Amino acid sequence: MKIINGSALAKKIKSILAIDIAFCVEKYNRAPKLELVLVGDDPHSATHVGNKKKAANAIGMECDIHSLPCHTSQTELLELIDQLNKDASVDAILVQLPLPKHIDTNTIINAIDYRKDVDGLHPMNVGLLCTSSDDAIIPCTPRGILSLLQEEQIEISGKHCVVIGRSNLVGNPTARLMLKNNASVTICHSKTRDLPYLTRQAEILIVAIGCPNLIHADMLKEGAVVIDVGINSIDGKLVGDVYNSIDVPSIEKIASAITPVPGGVGPMTIASLLQNTFDIYKRNVVK
Ligand code: GUN
Repeated sequence: MKIINGSALAKKIKSILAIDIAFCVEKYNRAPKLELVLVGDDPHSATHVGNKKKAANAIGMECDIHSLPCHTSQTELLELIDQLNKDASVDAILVQLPLPKHIDTNTIINAIDYRKDVDGLHPMNVGLLCTSSDDAIIPCTPRGILSLLQEEQIEISGKHCVVIGRSNLVGNPTARLMLKNNASVTICHSKTRDLPYLTRQAEILIVAIGCPNLIHADMLKEGAVVIDVGINSIDGKLVGDVYNSIDVPSIEKIASAITPVPGGVGPMTIASLLQNTFDIYKRNVVK
């Protein structure tokens, strides 16, 4: 069984981007600019946003963090988004989720100019992903999953792909992306009956539910490719929804490949964010 190395691919993507950005800065006289908006003091969100900025700066992008207090009103946040939308030097905007409860997430996402919506969450990008258009900004984790499958030369077309999870950030857009790449797709979620019956049919199984030990070897099809998006902390140790030290020996006998946790899909999310930012920048500078 192949352990798919997401850290290595993320590193490769970032080094290629760094070269492309250096070339473009010479040619177009400005670097890509990503604006990160963080509301509140959730330490995990602050870490994620800090990691995104570090990664962007490391490859030559400009990146600011707009850190707003927890009591920021929806109107104040909308004003900031309006300002970033209008600023021609800003290519990409990311509002870190989740937002505090008094702010309506959909209202905020809808307010972002869809051409700067680096997360691909705006209804326009969601819609474009569902058409034959190639113009959609694809959410970062789904794009990272597709890159991993392509890098490993895993055929998607014609395969039965089972996606567990239907979130706006991962499950839904991943299912759409697999469909766009000609897989036959089944989406499973918390109300799905007889999950093992469906997972046993998956040639590609993508698990993004955030539930450790959800999937065991006896729920897999022979030769399945398993993409484990789950990141769960158990006794201070990171495990996936599938991948953990106990089950890997039995999974090894049946699956053909799996993404580990950590070091699988996780690092690809930031690499894809940087790719999305660079793609938007190119749309802006190459007229
Ligand atoms: N929170 C957790 N993951 C993400 C992400 O990919 N984008 C945003 N905006 N918020 C997140």
